[in-house]
Amino acid sequence: MATVLSVSGSPSASSRTHRLLRHLDRRLTAQGHEVTPLDVRTVPAEALLGADFAHPAIVEAAELFARADGVVIATPVYKAAYSGVLKALLDLLPQYALTGKTVLPLATGGTTAHVLAIDYALRPVLNSMGAAHIVQGWFTLDKDITVHEDGTLSVASLTDEALTQVVDQFSTALGRTPLLAAAS
Ligand SMILES: Cc1cc2nc3c(=O)[nH]c(=O)nc-3n(C[C@H](O)[C@H](O)[C@H](O)COP(=O)(O)O)c2cc1C
Repeated sequence: MATVLSVSGSPSASSRTHRLLRHLDRRLTAQGHEVTPLDVRTVPAEALLGADFAHPAIVEAAELFARADGVVIATPVYKAAYSGVLKALLDLLPQYALTGKTVLPLATGGTTAHVLAIDYALRPVLNSMGAAHIVQGWFTLDKDITVHEDGTLSVASLTDEALTQVVDQFSTALGRTPLLAAAS
């Protein structure tokens, strides 16, 4: 099965995006994929803000991208686009860090006014980084994600169904990734 890098792009310590993503990771793992989590908020700020391409954390992140067949990128919508901290990391990766890779873009947000943020903001960035195949993404309203006191998560049922569908489409597309990579 495939190697998946699962990138959480929220700077928040209590991030719903992060929790939702880790919930979806479990489905990919159960399908036999090897999933590696990467939380952008754990990358040292001096590396991100100082554009330190040689920082060990940036080098390691670049290696994780290079090794992945597929990448899930999840971001909160901030000011109608992806988070600044996610962009700071993407800016430090090689220009074509997504070449040959299948990518699943996900977002969480507070208003349906920005439901298209994945398509008008994130997708062009992923395209510019050479993504081979960007599958259908999904925007989840923050009110549909409930974090319980014991740390468990529940997702509104219609949203959960939609997320399951996009994750499964990503999983299916991953089956074709090695062929695409080998052909390139
Ligand atoms: C600084 C800031 C800006 C935000 N801007 C938007 C926005 O423009 N559109 C939107 O739909 N939600 C916006 N939100 C709401 C967040 O996208 C939403 O609550 C998201 O689920 C937060 O994810 P997180 O807990 O992983 O950070 C904003 C939240 C913050 C803190």
